[in-house]
Amino acid sequence: MKSFYLIVFVLLHTSINSINIAVAGSGYVGLVLGAGLAEFGHNVCCLDINKNKIDMLNQGKVPIYEPGLSELITRHLVEGNIIFSTDISSGIQNSDVVFIAVGTPMGPDGHADLTAVEAVARSFAQNLNSFKTLVIKSTVPIGTNKKLKQFVEDNKQTDVEFSIVSNPEFLKEGLAINDFINPDRAVFGIYQESDKELMCKVFAPLVKKNIPLFFTDPASAEMIKYASNSFLATKVSFINEVSQLCSKTGANIGDVAVGMGLDNRIGSSFLKPGPGFGGSCFPKDTNEMIKLASEYEVDLSIVKSALAVNGKQHDYVLSRAADMLGEIKDKTIAVLGLAFKAFTDDVRYSPAIEIINKLLSEGAHVKAYDPIAMENMKNEIGNIYYAQSEEDAINEADFVLVLTEWPQFKNLDWSAISKRSHIFDARNILDKKILKSSELSQFKFENLGNYSQSY
Ligand code: UGA
Repeated sequence: MKSFYLIVFVLLHTSINSINIAVAGSGYVGLVLGAGLAEFGHNVCCLDINKNKIDMLNQGKVPIYEPGLSELITRHLVEGNIIFSTDISSGIQNSDVVFIAVGTPMGPDGHADLTAVEAVARSFAQNLNSFKTLVIKSTVPIGTNKKLKQFVEDNKQTDVEFSIVSNPEFLKEGLAINDFINPDRAVFGIYQESDKELMCKVFAPLVKKNIPLFFTDPASAEMIKYASNSFLATKVSFINEVSQLCSKTGANIGDVAVGMGLDNRIGSSFLKPGPGFGGSCFPKDTNEMIKLASEYEVDLSIVKSALAVNGKQHDYVLSRAADMLGEIKDKTIAVLGLAFKAFTDDVRYSPAIEIINKLLSEGAHVKAYDPIAMENMKNEIGNIYYAQSEEDAINEADFVLVLTEWPQFKNLDWSAISKRSHIFDARNILDKKILKSSELSQFKFENLGNYSQSY
């Protein structure tokens, strides 16, 4: 009898806390969000206009590489609290909360393209069969939530009420599942107090863990997203410039970053030099913020500089290669790493694209290898040799250029490689000490900012 009451209680408890949620857009953000909300105990319908993608997902096949995502989706497919569909209308009609998680790529004018966001908002308005809350997860320019509120109001066909919440995303690709379940904070821009209560229910496991849910107005929430990404991008450009100075002065950027980061006001993250920031967010969001500011006649000179320094960082890597090789023309260059960072197959705005194109224009032969991003890179650059393995890329190369910090690259026999080719480590993943043998070799080993592992 006691266990019967327990079961009834558990069932009741589950149903009270479970919310029917639709997530429009099954890309990087939408899939992690959908799987994460299912993990939080909600009933989730992930929507997308791409039928192939939805068919794959219904078979438990995840079309993107994100560690842990496939397992999470498969588990919730089996448990029955996640479904995938192209039927946007039913998905919205059967939900109380609808997240917009479609892409907002950079348009030709430098502004985020909101076509997909507007299409979902229109469907939301047309399928408003009961009170619903529209949550904007996609990164949208400041003022968009306000415009979307009016847009839904203008396009809805009934008197049914709705609310709008801005909930910017702070997930990092490659670490997205953990970022969703254990974020530093969640930010919400709301118009009405009742949405605070609703968001606390949707994100109840975060409340339970005392993770701050920060509530503000929608314009501020939108600004927090752009300002956070622009600040982090600035941090990366800053350390890239400092690393250039370390290379000249003999200071070790590894120790400099550790010593700086120990100051809590600075913090140790985003102080790793590299070939320049890439991905679908930093380049796009810094551009959008600069564009928006110029329309309001505000000169965001720091963000502008961060972007300009980033462009120059690609050239800096090339200039280091040219210095080491003497001449790039006709040299065979092995590029290890094509993704914009490790643990992702994403090559959007990857520094590798610009660097390889410049190597090609200077007459180099490029042999490229990446553990998972090669298929995506083939859509960007066709006329290079895509190697079967690291060894295949490195074989008979004059120069080895490390562009992505894949951990497995560390395990190659670098002492042997350093006796056959010049090496430039643009991610500082190789320890200079391991390559001591290169000192006796005719080939050079260099990295960013004179990096060496600390004592
Ligand atoms: C970034 C933000 O970190 C997330 O908080 C945000 O949610 C996301 O954008 C977004 O707007 O959707 P992501 O683009 O996945 O996440 O990648 P990051 O890990 O931030 O790296 C961005 C770029 O900076 C990469 O090219 C990376 O290699 C580079 N980087 C990062 C460095 O060169 N050095 C560092 O120390 C850190």
